[in-house]
Amino acid sequence: MQPNRLGIMAPIAPPELGEPYLLTPGPLTTSFTVKQAMLRDWGSWDEDFRAMTAQIRARMLDLLGPGKADYDCVPMQGSGSFCVEAMLGSLIPRDAKVLVLANGAYGQRAAKTLRYLERAHVVLDKGDFLPPRGAEVADILAADPAISHVVAIHCETSSGILNPIQEIADATAAAGRKLLIDSMSAFGALPLDPLKTPFEAVVTSANKCLEGVPGFGLVLARRAALEAAEGISHSLALDLHDQWRNMVATGQWRFTPPTHVVAAFVQALDEHAAEGGIAGRGARYRQNRDTLVAEMRARGFETLLSEEWLSPIIVTFFCPDDPAFVFGRFYDLLKADGFIIYPGKLTAVESFRIGCIGHLDHHVMTALARSAERALTTMGVRSAAPGAAALTERNQLVA
Ligand SMILES: Cc1ncc(COP(=O)(O)O)c(C=O)c1O
Repeated sequence: MQPNRLGIMAPIAPPELGEPYLLTPGPLTTSFTVKQAMLRDWGSWDEDFRAMTAQIRARMLDLLGPGKADYDCVPMQGSGSFCVEAMLGSLIPRDAKVLVLANGAYGQRAAKTLRYLERAHVVLDKGDFLPPRGAEVADILAADPAISHVVAIHCETSSGILNPIQEIADATAAAGRKLLIDSMSAFGALPLDPLKTPFEAVVTSANKCLEGVPGFGLVLARRAALEAAEGISHSLALDLHDQWRNMVATGQWRFTPPTHVVAAFVQALDEHAAEGGIAGRGARYRQNRDTLVAEMRARGFETLLSEEWLSPIIVTFFCPDDPAFVFGRFYDLLKADGFIIYPGKLTAVESFRIGCIGHLDHHVMTALARSAERALTTMGVRSAAPGAAALTERNQLVA
């Protein structure tokens, strides 16, 4: 194997046009073949395009495993938040009450969406990253019989924590309530089997672990919930029931579909299957994460989360305490080496995030860590160790 243009010995080809790797959780680095699939135009009414829509709906359901029989898949135009809003606004009746489990930006956004939708809700707010636990959910549900639905975030992308979705699902099911999951950044790399982890609906995006390009998302919901959703939505464009009924009846999207994005998604699903489906994709991402964490720790960086909570999706690192460290400069130096990273989202301490997902492998992670080391040297940073406040923050997890 020859080193590629970026000097990386990686079996997965680097971005064809020489753009930086996106170590961000969507938009993310996609394969050249996925991008190539967008080179032809499709008529949205045409049988060939309808066949593609039918194919992606069926193949998404296949990813649920044998429990798929009770579910159907409804693609919806827009970014992830459009699809979360479609799910919440269509499947939660106007007189329902919701428990939102929040430990970061996306839990907060779900609560904000419910405020816009004027659905009664309570928030279990665990701050920047602490996980909502099954026992807490059980206690809240036992104390408030009016709560009919629970909204949980599978991987809270703002910290990278993998929330304990199994204990949340168990507590919700035991209390006879309905679980809606935002698995935007986890579906396709982490198993979600409704026979084991009961849920009413899950929402994800074409452009995260399934490695398509941005433009639409998908809600996989119990067919009974889709049927019962008639007339609930406040919005025509985001009415999941209407989109579903129309798709079932005509094979078409109601309004202009992102045709090229759908074509790219078919290719992305082929590549997902060729890699071994959820197990194969998840294994590559875990290897990416393990390499990233080991290589960065070897250089003195520390992660926000301990092993138990680290997702294979995105990892939060504390910024070095050394006063010579300036995030903007660090970012620019990494970008010059071919890597785009993400600023952190913690409120109490400075941090940055590195995504493990997308069309890239662990060789890229090793190269990135080397680049981070060079950047520290260039900035005159002597130690990558975080300050005392960061360690106090992290200790909350063990407390
Ligand atoms: C868990 C989660 N929910 C929702 C969203 C919202 O997606 P978008 O920014 O595409 O609207 C994201 C995006 O990263 C996410 O990670």
